[in-house]
Amino acid sequence: MTKQIKSKIKADIESVSGPKPFVKWVGGKGKLIPEMMKFMPSKFEHYFEPFVGGGALFFSIIQSRDISFSCINDINSKLTNSYKQIKLNPGSLVSQLTVIDSGYKKLSPEERKEYFYEKRRIYNEDNLDELTLASYLIFLNKTCFNGMYRENSKGHYNIPFGDQKNPKICDEENIYAVSKHLQNTEICNLSFEKSVENCRQGDFIYFDPPYYPINKTSSFTSYSKKSFGSQQQEELRDVFAALAKKGCYVMLSNSHTPEVEKLYKDFNINYIYAARSINSDGRKRGKIKEVIVTNFKH
Ligand SMILES: C[S@@+](CC[C@H](N)C(=O)[O-])C[C@H]1O[C@@H](n2cnc3c(N)ncnc32)[C@H](O)[C@@H]1O
Repeated sequence: MTKQIKSKIKADIESVSGPKPFVKWVGGKGKLIPEMMKFMPSKFEHYFEPFVGGGALFFSIIQSRDISFSCINDINSKLTNSYKQIKLNPGSLVSQLTVIDSGYKKLSPEERKEYFYEKRRIYNEDNLDELTLASYLIFLNKTCFNGMYRENSKGHYNIPFGDQKNPKICDEENIYAVSKHLQNTEICNLSFEKSVENCRQGDFIYFDPPYYPINKTSSFTSYSKKSFGSQQQEELRDVFAALAKKGCYVMLSNSHTPEVEKLYKDFNINYIYAARSINSDGRKRGKIKEVIVTNFKH
């Protein structure tokens, strides 16, 4: 694809004022969407995304295709609760976020920091009602360092304060747009293999798992307290193969490593280049090669 066509697709996608991810998520695919759209099947029945995270591809797909039903899933229950609250209670969520937003914006920088850590402490106590839990997750995501989500082994969110000057804590328009587009979407909180049990021939499944580490220091698998190691990567490959056998369209992102190439040697392996965003060493930021595996030709 020429540079010109690529930037045309990017401009088209950016001009769509539809729903977009309401949280920033590690591994978010936002910048890769124009590249990834090239690998999608031209037609399919239902859409499934078992590792949805911030849902960049999901939001792009539900706007650009006519899909009667989709199913999104993530093992992080606080994240899936936020999707559910946006789907079912957008007005109440907007009200809560508006209160948080206006209170926060009146504080001095030092007070904002204290407020953040107090909300984080309460969030980690795990006894909030579902609506408040969703508003806290969104608040913390908008005001933490680099907009990241990470949990330690106890399941506690542990990202520090981020000191953004003017964070958009309540993006009312987007919350309503997301809510509208979630009405035909089932939101699940299962392990990935369970979330695809009902897939049928003709359905499209996109897997964006925690990536296979490219070296010992590069791994980021702390999305939640449960880790995702080589055993889970093998199980995922088996699930991928079983869905392919059923006649589904299956697509998967992962890092470009010998292990991943070996796992998916029986399928089509395509390459794309992604900007590395979670390497703490600034000098190592740059474009890295990733794989997109499919069981079909696009
Ligand atoms: C690479 S991120 C997905 C990023 C996402 N595509 C986006 O655009 O933001 C991987 C996601 O998988 C979830 N996850 C980890 N282990 C899982 C499992 N066993 N089953 C389902 N989801 C899992 C994590 O909570 C995380 O949100």
